[in-house]
Amino acid sequence: MAGAHAVRMHEVGAPDVLRWEPIELPEPGPGEVRVRHTAIGLNFIDTYHRTGLYPVPLPAVLGSEAVGVVEALGDGVTGFAAGDRVGYATGPMGAYAEARNITASVVVKIPPGVDDDRAAASLLKGMTAHYLLDIGRLRESPRTILVHAAAGGVGLLLCQWAKRLGATVIGTVGSEAKAKLALASGCDEVIRYDGESVAKRVHAITNGKKVDVVYDSVGKDTWSDSLASLRPRGMMVSFGQSSGPVAPFEPRVLAANGSLFFTRPTLFDYVRERAELEARARDLFAALEEGALNVRVGQTYPLREAARAHRDLEGRKTTGSTLLVP
Ligand SMILES: NC(=O)c1ccc[n+]([C@@H]2O[C@H](COP(=O)([O-])OP(=O)(O)OC[C@H]3O[C@@H](n4cnc5c(N)ncnc54)[C@H](OP(=O)(O)O)[C@@H]3O)[C@@H](O)[C@H]2O)c1
Repeated sequence: MAGAHAVRMHEVGAPDVLRWEPIELPEPGPGEVRVRHTAIGLNFIDTYHRTGLYPVPLPAVLGSEAVGVVEALGDGVTGFAAGDRVGYATGPMGAYAEARNITASVVVKIPPGVDDDRAAASLLKGMTAHYLLDIGRLRESPRTILVHAAAGGVGLLLCQWAKRLGATVIGTVGSEAKAKLALASGCDEVIRYDGESVAKRVHAITNGKKVDVVYDSVGKDTWSDSLASLRPRGMMVSFGQSSGPVAPFEPRVLAANGSLFFTRPTLFDYVRERAELEARARDLFAALEEGALNVRVGQTYPLREAARAHRDLEGRKTTGSTLLVP
């Protein structure tokens, strides 16, 4: 049994439910490795778990993404050794800890050309961008896309990657500073959705053609504008709800807006097979190593101050990726 500290919550609620506590760490079980974390990725989904929007058993240690060093191995683990630099991005939850045991099947090795911070800042968000490009068929032909929250963690990576694939990228952002960042990271046009009509601007920018794909992680506040920004038979990808959940809707809404396609994907379903997880991680790390993709760590917090990090993320104060440092 080893000791460590973790940020744990005993009830759902505001950020101050997150408490820094000592935890007991048993030896890794069969198929598990113990990872001592060096950097932990903060993700918006952590706030859904904290508030109870996505219910989790309590008490809980939040966090789906971290990078660190393998410290011990359970029975039957192959392909890893003590001292390996590794990361994971699809849970199970428990990343807000100095160290933890985790099933080796979700863990990947980090190549030497990618440092711990960049890996923890991009593994979940970058693999998300990777499968979102698949869904939008951006690797097949040049397309025009609308990306909401373009200066956020997923947003900056998705916009850059789409641009490299030849897409025309329109981003939405909530401030001037974020607009500059989005324009420097692959956006051809930026819309300040806090002050202007997204659908009208998209119409003007595209000469009435509108976009092939909308990537909408904002949810409640952007839903109507997203549908109105799509060309007939366009693809609505609803992959998050930073402003709150999308209200229930009738399927005929998709017909009324031009026989639209609609999907509500999660990363988990796009890395279910070990081979797929490895392939997405490999492509991401290659893009980082080649410099094809820049990951921006916009802010870093001590792990024990996770509550402050949550407040800033929910308060729209962050840009790019956010790290918690144990
Ligand atoms: N389905 C999946 O597989 C998957 C995987 C990863 C992430 N996601 C989703 O993708 C989204 C982005 O995640 P992230 O971790 O990279 O976060 P993020 O985009 O860095 O942060 C959220 C951003 O959303 C914007 N926003 C608009 N309205 C908001 C509101 N009312 N409250 C808070 N933020 C608001 C803000 O940017 P502005 O100030 O520019 O508006 C804010 O910075 C989240 O919705 C997350 O759940 C989904």
